[in-house]
Amino acid sequence: MELSVVIPTFKERDNVAELVRRLDKALAGIGWEAIFVDDNSPDGTAAEVKSIAASDPRVRCIRRVGRRGLAGACIEGMLSSSAPVVAVMDADLQHDETVLPKMLKTLKDEGVDLVAATRYVAGGSADSFGESRGMISRVATAITHRVLGTSLSDPMSGFFMMRRDRFDEVVPRLSPAGFKILLDIATASDGLRIAEQPFVFGTRHAGESKFNVQVGLEFIGLLIAKLSGGFLDPRFIFFAIVGALGLVIHLGVLKGALLWLAFTPAQSVATFAAMTSNFFLNNELTYRDRRLKGWSMLWGFLSFCAICSIGALTNVGLAAWLFAAEREVWWAAGLAGALMGAFWNYAMSSLFVWRTR
Ligand code: GDD
Ligand code: MN
Repeated sequence: MELSVVIPTFKERDNVAELVRRLDKALAGIGWEAIFVDDNSPDGTAAEVKSIAASDPRVRCIRRVGRRGLAGACIEGMLSSSAPVVAVMDADLQHDETVLPKMLKTLKDEGVDLVAATRYVAGGSADSFGESRGMISRVATAITHRVLGTSLSDPMSGFFMMRRDRFDEVVPRLSPAGFKILLDIATASDGLRIAEQPFVFGTRHAGESKFNVQVGLEFIGLLIAKLSGGFLDPRFIFFAIVGALGLVIHLGVLKGALLWLAFTPAQSVATFAAMTSNFFLNNELTYRDRRLKGWSMLWGFLSFCAICSIGALTNVGLAAWLFAAEREVWWAAGLAGALMGAFWNYAMSSLFVWRTR
């Protein structure tokens, strides 16, 4: 076994057979396997992969239940490999499989750790993106270069190959949130020797793209996390953004409720509204990969409310204590209390509501 090709899938049933056929052709003479990592696609992608795997031992399927996310799927697929080299590519045939042997050769002959397939050097192209998506990709690439100063010409690419030992070293520092596993690996490892391989980005074979606003937001979270040098994790950044939005909702509802109610009941209604919106936004965004549904969502909501109530008490308690000691800087006492509350809510929600640890 020389090469594991990891292929994350979500609703790609009609692409997998064609991809395996093309890999078989492109990788003739190389010992390879294909590891599909499917997030329990409702279209039966996993069943399709397994029916191929039943007669082709080079094909495997990891079916993940109750979890979503491209980067996390890639990480799990790579972790399951025992080949010396792992590649990651999309299932929709937009990534040109015929460059894989060249990438493998570069990895072996040039003594590099990682070969990134790129659309943004001579010989590569992203023309198939069309106007608007092409623009988004170029802007995101430019921002990434500004902010992180990475040497990758196409940091957004989801197509690369690397030595498995280097992956095993860096994996504890990777974030399972988001779409950008290559960028995460490149910025999380020190002294990674990187080569690039141009390729022409094709058009999607069957099905639809999963790119959406949320994917864009997750990317911004990853950038901020990288900017903070890993001090803030992307999840906390989303938790904080959702919290800030909750404050706006709180004040809006309070203003409306005051038309009908006295202050105390109005403030209670506003608090409840903000907690509700925070819970649902966190469930959709911050903890999307561990989204709660059905009864566990109701239970999660109740525990979230309980945690936030205790958070409010710790906030007020700390602020009051600091304020008593130093009345002049009332705002610092208030800020410290609010931060304390936010950290408490985040830590406890991660532990008990969405159980990320
Ligand atoms: N397991 C799993 N879970 N796979 C997923 C998920 C998920 O939540 N979301 C997307 N995928 C899989 C898709 O099934 C596909 O094989 C691959 O990830 C890429 O998703 P697409 O929906 O095809 O994304 P795209 O074509 O819009 O995005 C492309 O461009 C980006 C850069 O601009 C891809 O090449 C990305 O890898 C690339 O980062
Ligand atoms: Mn695609």
